[in-house]
Amino acid sequence: MDVIHLKGGLPLHGRVAAGGAKNAALPIFAATLLTDEPVTIENVPDLSDIRFMAQILEHLGASVERKDAHSWVIQAASVESLAPYELVRKMRASVCLMGPLLGRLREAVVSYPGGCVIGPRPIDLHLKGFARLGCRVEVRGGYVHLDGQDLHGEAVFLGGRHGSTALGTANVLMAAVLAPGVTRIESAACEPEIVDLCHLLQAMGAKIEGVGGHALRIEGVEKLHGCTHRIIPDRIEAGTFLLAAAITQGDVTVAGARRQDLASLVDKLAEAGADLSFPDEDTIRLRAHGRAFNPVDVITLPHPGFATDLQAQMCALMTLAPGLSIVTERVFPNRFMHVPELQRMGADIAIEGASAIIKGRPALSGAPVMASDLRASAALVLAGLAARGETWIQRIYHLDRGYERIDRKLIPLGAEIERLPESAMPKELIGEEA
Ligand code: EPU
Repeated sequence: MDVIHLKGGLPLHGRVAAGGAKNAALPIFAATLLTDEPVTIENVPDLSDIRFMAQILEHLGASVERKDAHSWVIQAASVESLAPYELVRKMRASVCLMGPLLGRLREAVVSYPGGCVIGPRPIDLHLKGFARLGCRVEVRGGYVHLDGQDLHGEAVFLGGRHGSTALGTANVLMAAVLAPGVTRIESAACEPEIVDLCHLLQAMGAKIEGVGGHALRIEGVEKLHGCTHRIIPDRIEAGTFLLAAAITQGDVTVAGARRQDLASLVDKLAEAGADLSFPDEDTIRLRAHGRAFNPVDVITLPHPGFATDLQAQMCALMTLAPGLSIVTERVFPNRFMHVPELQRMGADIAIEGASAIIKGRPALSGAPVMASDLRASAALVLAGLAARGETWIQRIYHLDRGYERIDRKLIPLGAEIERLPESAMPKELIGEEA
């Protein structure tokens, strides 16, 4: 296993580009099961999660061809309805195979996903949505059995305790595009990744109205066809680079940063004192002018609120903002695995319920730390870039699930970061495996 080794304290300067969005690509890969014609997908990030999804599609009978590092052609001439535990357990997002299998085959048997380190991950809203569309839903032996012989359009309300559901919306949408009649999804998620999925489905011949809003109207069609689709840039990767510029008090221009997708982060960064400019709609430049940031309060919410996937990185920035800031999680209330590791680097953070209360300090100090999940890992990279001294991050396979070679993208900006085999790490610093 590899580790990341950083020497912190250098302001980042220059230009960097975000790749394609992981959370758009995953449901879009699943959506290729809705047609027997080939679908070409471009600007796909080169990530372990994407490779897992490709393996699952192959297992289900699709032919999956990788044309180059970032383009794939998938053709599901025939499809099987069973997605087994040993594949699904590797990646929670495989839950979004249910909708396409149901739409295409009128039946699906998909392993029930487990929770994960960011907290419980229920799928009650997905299943409620399928049931509303006339599907029989049964959980048996750890599998969700879906019988959709009577699948048809209906009104479906998808709001839950924590607001809308991204993959739940994707799932119901993908079943509905091939269900006879009209489906109306109320309280639909409007994340840019869901909008991207709608655009792909429309290019395949689906009839969807209200794209980008909370009320979607879908008129089922009999058949969908192949198409070519380009994945949107990853707003979370772009946001992570902006926060890297901020925490190192640097000057970085991020391409693939669509302003409308990052409005809540831009707003908070401006409130915290960043000098932001927008050379074009897809590019954001952040200049910190060598100053620390002001503390700000942040609440995560479904889009267009502040993204939960940027919460850990924002916490890292606030550890160096002199004063008090409160970061509250409304989407995944237990998503604070990064906090104990940031504390090991000298951060002053207390957790109170679903909030992190952060007292900004003048500096962090480098330390050996453990990545626990994808975005927590990104927060540790940011903290390590700003900290005095050396930071070693273990278990970076979490980072590789969602960031394509982040180390190689940060080096041209002036970061001292390297990926090394764990054997290169001083023995006395190696953390215990849980
Ligand atoms: N929820 C329910 N019932 C459901 C579904 C969700 O109560 O049936 C709750 C969840 O527990 C949570 C909230 O609704 O409190 C929102 O969850 P959502 O369903 O939107 O999350 P998701 O679709 O499973 C996607 C991303 C996550 C991202 C969330 C929120 C993918 C593959 N995953 O998950 O991304 O945090 O939306 O924006 O798209 C990541 O990339 O690091 C990541 C975790």
